[in-house]
Amino acid sequence: MAKRVLVSGGAGYIGSHVTVELINAGYEVVVADNLSNCDMTCFEGVKKITGRDDIPFYQVDCCDPDAVAGLFAENEIDAVIHFAAFKAVGESVAEPIMYYRNNLVSFLNILEESRKQGGCNVLFSSSATVYGEAEVLPVTEQTPRLPATSPYGNTKQMCEDILRDSVAAYKGVKGIALRYFNPIGAHPSALIGELPRGVPNNLVPFITQTAIGKRECLSIFGNDYPTEDGTCLRDYIDVVDLAKAHVAAVARMLDGKMKEDYEIFNVGTGRPVSVSELVNAFEKVNELKLNYKYVDRRPGDVMAIWADTTRANEELGWKAERSVEDTLASAWAWEKHLAGK
Ligand code: WQD
Repeated sequence: MAKRVLVSGGAGYIGSHVTVELINAGYEVVVADNLSNCDMTCFEGVKKITGRDDIPFYQVDCCDPDAVAGLFAENEIDAVIHFAAFKAVGESVAEPIMYYRNNLVSFLNILEESRKQGGCNVLFSSSATVYGEAEVLPVTEQTPRLPATSPYGNTKQMCEDILRDSVAAYKGVKGIALRYFNPIGAHPSALIGELPRGVPNNLVPFITQTAIGKRECLSIFGNDYPTEDGTCLRDYIDVVDLAKAHVAAVARMLDGKMKEDYEIFNVGTGRPVSVSELVNAFEKVNELKLNYKYVDRRPGDVMAIWADTTRANEELGWKAERSVEDTLASAWAWEKHLAGK
């Protein structure tokens, strides 16, 4: 019998790509999403891509303990991938209570139900933000976490710790935290992708919206950093590659391959790319000119971060494969798809 994975936040950007790859790999998937930061566009896209019209979808809020209990009561769940969370750094600074309540309570409810089942495999969607401005690059999983600079980042650290402690305390609960670097791009079908609400905070949606004419001009935040071209360095990971890392991690848990009951993996490419390089690559691969200007640094930005991916490569048997050019072409194809072009 196929194993069943509950994907909380499964209608969102990363959750929808993960749902596709899980189904491609032969898993059954149950999607739960309260649609607070997305609509059904991506879930409909998932159904088209997979040709599966029968994927169970629950419009529930994981902050509601009864709703989460219902998900487990109605479905035999072998593993959970928990995405359901707020993720805007700036908003978290303005609304910390909302962020702590949403991101912590939903995860606590998932863990509580997993424990009640007599155990479950829980994969938590964490972030490279936990490393802050690391002194030594690239960062490994052993690189010390630094104090979070936003409530959002703090919820990622706190949820990692809650998972670690729960695994230690409750027999049968196993956990993996995946620390994502900068997920970008879209599915090659252009049927699913990122759907930012309002003005995008992240670089690639801002680029694609500028290219399509929704935004006038991209502001590049700072060109006076002590990097080769003066702009920040990040590790941009293709969202389909990222999704495949989840499949590898779920298989590791379900096939009894974990070396410890709580494990952490960096999910990146291991390749630093500057903002200017990314913009140039976008222009080149999509054969267009982008309107951009250099402005002051954005407060809170780290100068550089990229992953040492040795652990994920060796232990998960996973490696990022798509080139930055192909990823940027997919981001542009998705933006055009949204515009009906
Ligand atoms: C990337 C680079 C900007 C926008 C954030 C979160 C992190 C994670 C991913 C989220 C930086 C520059 C950006 C723009 C620009 N989690 N930039 N002009 O800040 O690395 O990470 O998103 O869900 O936790 O902190 O990503 O895409 O915002 O920025 O010049 O309009 O692009 O300064 O160097 P970031 P980003």
